[in-house]
Order: sequence, then C-alpha cells, then structure tokens
Amino acid sequence: MAHTLVAEKLEHAAGVERVLDRAFGPGRFAKTSERVRERGAVLEPSLSRVALNAAGDVIGVCRIWRVEAGAPLFFLGPLAVDPDAQLTGLGLALVRDCVAACRAAGGNGIVLVGAERFFRAAGFSIVPPGRIVLPGPVDPARLLWCELRPGGLADVAGAVTAPR
Ligand SMILES: CC(C)(COP(=O)(O)OP(=O)(O)OC[C@H]1O[C@@H](n2cnc3c(N)ncnc32)[C@H](O)[C@@H]1OP(=O)(O)O)[C@@H](O)C(=O)NCCC(=O)NCCS
Repeated sequence: MAHTLVAEKLEHAAGVERVLDRAFGPGRFAKTSERVRERGAVLEPSLSRVALNAAGDVIGVCRIWRVEAGAPLFFLGPLAVDPDAQLTGLGLALVRDCVAACRAAGGNGIVLVGAERFFRAAGFSIVPPGRIVLPGPVDPARLLWCELRPGGLADVAGAVTAPR
C-alpha cells in the first residue's frame, strides 16, 4: 500500500484519534504511558509522524514527547497503525522516521513502553532494571530506550517527569 510519512499537524487530529481508537480499543487511556503524557510531557509535532494513504487519510501515527529523567529525553508513544494497514512494515517505518528526527534534533535518547521484539529493529533495548521510573506499573521487560548520540544515556536515571 502506498503511503507517505509526514510531521504531525493540527489537520491530522481527527484521523489520528480514529487510528488510535481502532488500533488500541477502549484500553487506550489506561496505560502507564498515558500517565507520563498527562504529567506535563510536551508533545513535539515536528518530531512526531503520521502515515497518510494515497487518499490523504491518516493510517498510522507515532508521537514524540519531550520529558526529563536526570537529563532531557524523548518519550515515544502512542504508536499505532490502522488494523487494515498492519503487518506491511508501516509501524517500523514510523518508528525509524521518528528516531531519525529525534537524532537530527540533537536529543540524548528516547524511552518507550513496548515489545522489545518489535522495537529492537529500530535500535531499542531493555532499560537496566530500576534505572528509570515511570508514574505507574510497567513490566521491566517492556521499558525500552534508544541512544541518540554516543554517551547520550549516561546521565539518564530516575523518575520521568515534565521537561524543565
Ligand atoms: C504495533 C503496531 C504499531 C505494529 O504496526 P505494523 O505496521 O503492523 O508493524 P510492522 O508491519 O512494521 O511490523 C514489523 C515487524 O514487527 C512484528 N510485530 C508487529 N507487532 C508486533 C508486536 N506487538 N510484538 C512483536 N512483534 C510485532 C511484525 O510481525 C513484523 O515482523 P516481520 O517483519 O518479521 O514480519 C500495530 O500492530 C498496532 O497498531 N498495534 C496496536 C497498537 C499497539 O499495540 N501499539 C504498540 C504499543 S507499544
């Protein structure tokens, strides 16, 4: 399926909500990642990506937020691809584009909650246990990070909070 990846804009809002509802269902707001976003994380639309189909409809989204944990950091999520467009490589393409944008922006690293088996292809690995604390329960095997520059994660530790 033909698609393009672009930075998120206000005009995508309704399409993004539709994809998130279809991909996650009603459990969408119960996640610990949602608590991070509620507690003052700052959305970075220029680093976030939406996937558009040939008709211009939103069929995927990957959002990037500015947070802090001992050092400035990005938080990735939600990542969602419309069920009708899943398993065609779009999810991974969205993540890779966001990682490239965050790296070009000069970031230290990116943290997320997700399946290591999926995200490792985009450069993510499991955070050493106890190193980072989120505002809610997280399976330590699903707390992942990705370094954006050599030594970028050296000072990253502690509670994930709003950026200063
Ligand atoms: C997770 C999601 C974004 C993946 O999107 P996608 O476009 O289907 O993913 P891709 O086609 O890029 O998948 C790439 C690879 O990851 C695998 N994969 C997909 N979802 C996976 C998952 N949840 N866990 C492990 N592997 C997964 C695919 O099988 C594929 O492997 P392959 O290349 O060996 O066949 C999509 O399934 C989705 O929106 N799910 C519901 C919302 C969700 O769970 N989001 C993630 C929260 S962290």
